[in-house]
Amino acid sequence: MSPAALLSLIRNVVRILSVVAVACTLHLYFYPFFRGCAFPLPPTPSNASHLVADSLVLNDSQREHSFGPAGGPAPFRLLALGDPQLEGDTAIRNYGRPAFFHLEWAIRHLMFRTEQPSLRKRFRQITHDLVDVFFDDIPDTLESIRKHIDLFGNDFYLAHIYRTMRWWTKPTHVTVLGDLLGSQWIRDREFHRRSKRFWSRSFRGAERIPDEVAQYPAEDYNVSGILGAEDSEAAVWQRRLINVVGNHDIGYAGDMTPELLDRFERAFGKAAYELRFELPIEDPVTNATIFDPENNPTSNRLLPELRILNINNMNLDTPALNESLQDYTYKFINTIISTSSAVEFKGHYTIVLTHIPLYKPEGVCVDAPFFDFHEGGGVKEQNQLSADASRGFLEGIYGLSGDVNAPAAGTGRRGVILNGHDHEGCDTYHYINQSLPSDERKWQVARWDAARKDELPEKTGLPGIREITVRSMMADFGGHAGLLSVWFDQDSWEWKHEFTVCALGRQYYWWFVHIFDIILLVILVAYGALEISIMSGFNAEAWFQTKLVPLSIQKPEVKSEAKKTNEKTNGHITKK
Ligand SMILES: *[C@@H]1O[C@H](CO)[C@@H](O)[C@H](O)[C@H]1NC(C)=O
Ligand SMILES: *[C@@H]1O[C@H](CO)[C@@H](O)[C@H](O)[C@H]1NC(C)=O
Ligand SMILES: *[C@@H]1O[C@H](CO)[C@@H](O)[C@H](O)[C@H]1NC(C)=O
Repeated sequence: MSPAALLSLIRNVVRILSVVAVACTLHLYFYPFFRGCAFPLPPTPSNASHLVADSLVLNDSQREHSFGPAGGPAPFRLLALGDPQLEGDTAIRNYGRPAFFHLEWAIRHLMFRTEQPSLRKRFRQITHDLVDVFFDDIPDTLESIRKHIDLFGNDFYLAHIYRTMRWWTKPTHVTVLGDLLGSQWIRDREFHRRSKRFWSRSFRGAERIPDEVAQYPAEDYNVSGILGAEDSEAAVWQRRLINVVGNHDIGYAGDMTPELLDRFERAFGKAAYELRFELPIEDPVTNATIFDPENNPTSNRLLPELRILNINNMNLDTPALNESLQDYTYKFINTIISTSSAVEFKGHYTIVLTHIPLYKPEGVCVDAPFFDFHEGGGVKEQNQLSADASRGFLEGIYGLSGDVNAPAAGTGRRGVILNGHDHEGCDTYHYINQSLPSDERKWQVARWDAARKDELPEKTGLPGIREITVRSMMADFGGHAGLLSVWFDQDSWEWKHEFTVCALGRQYYWWFVHIFDIILLVILVAYGALEISIMSGFNAEAWFQTKLVPLSIQKPEVKSEAKKTNEKTNGHITKK
């Protein structure tokens, strides 16, 4: 191949690789766009002339970005991330011991630096250790190096999800639904290292919620923010992370201590609190229909408000290691219940953020009910809350009731429950059938899709609530993110919600694109240098001929002469 043809081949290959790299990089960095991810849009008020246009907007993959005159985005858009579980040292195989442990011992035996009177046994130990270098040291070291790289990449893989989703979908609030870290058994030093990685890499730019903002439930609470505004306060809330506590952060009921809880709260914010967000009603006529003890005492309308409850449900079930921490959780939930608006009122909406999902019989979600206890008591592990603890949410916090004669006919308060823990994710509807005789009445669970198909949420005599277990954002589970939109419907004076998910995919693609880009960058630099040197008068053809194309080998003259002389001499000798 001539040098000119070779150069043009390189040029074409570089060109094609560049196109592939740019396409893959754009695809990776705009993945929510290519996957059609967006916060669900509220339906616009029924207006015949707008109908066609609206349904078009709703079907558009870029719907969130079409802040058109038709409705606009929901005032509350929660980006919900499940179980990032930052791993660290404890996931590395040769953590805490020398990389070439057996080699070190082999050398020690060899140098007579070990106690061993018998030479035969010493040689046997040396042989053993040398064999183990190949069967233990080398595989462990390779695996540990792989894990180090994996952990490093994983921090940025998670960061990619957080940063890209936040930038593209524009949430008003962000929550991480527990298990921020991967193990409750790590020492303080490793805990601080991981929390530093959490804030400076994976959730870079995010802030923890200040303790004075995270309120204990109260009768006369402070409003945490106003929804629908685009001011500096809204920008602050976009940066804040509502961090839920998980079993891998502080342990289950049987492991949880004040020290574990304390170090979590110092790094990630309080473990139990409420936030209240109000939506002002601008229209004075509508605003005047709101309940007012003096001017409008008969109205059942409250000023639209979202109540976000961050609940540590790690120690709701018994037995707990630390009774006073458990008493605190029970007191906290009872205060929530006593400070809720009466069930007869409309306009308040309760979003529960917690870690362990509610009880559901086997077969509804991937995780089946499971409990394990430490010897001598203490919850060691659980997949779900017990049925009793779950009722505390459904009948206590939400005030739902199977008794049709209960206040507001048992329909309770509106809202939605979000949690994590079951990495696979699950979307369900809890309901109780009031038509059944009281001794047969119990809480039932259906998959949300089935419940919605059967129109269970709309049925009277069937109070219920949706529970969404958000699939994990870990690479093994496809890097999922949940998108919850909540908006206010003035006609029914109720909040409505819609939920969808967005997946980045496994980590391989993320790795591939970045490595590919780096390799291409190196090739481009080398190729660029070559082009520049050609332009600056460097003769590529000559260079190829002298350096790259090997010269034809010729028999050196001198040598052949020497041979001839040799032959002559040879002949002379024989002759002699
Ligand atoms: C509301 O804010 C005030 C002033 O910042 C504070 O003193 C009070 O404790 C807060 N109330 C609650 C329930 O946190
Ligand atoms: C709505 O009415 C209340 C009094 O009931 C008043 O305090 C509030 O400012 C009004 N809001 C707007 C946006 O006009
Ligand atoms: C509720 O119970 C009634 C009476 O047994 C039954 O007819 C109805 O189908 C039940 N509804 C659901 C959703 O299970």
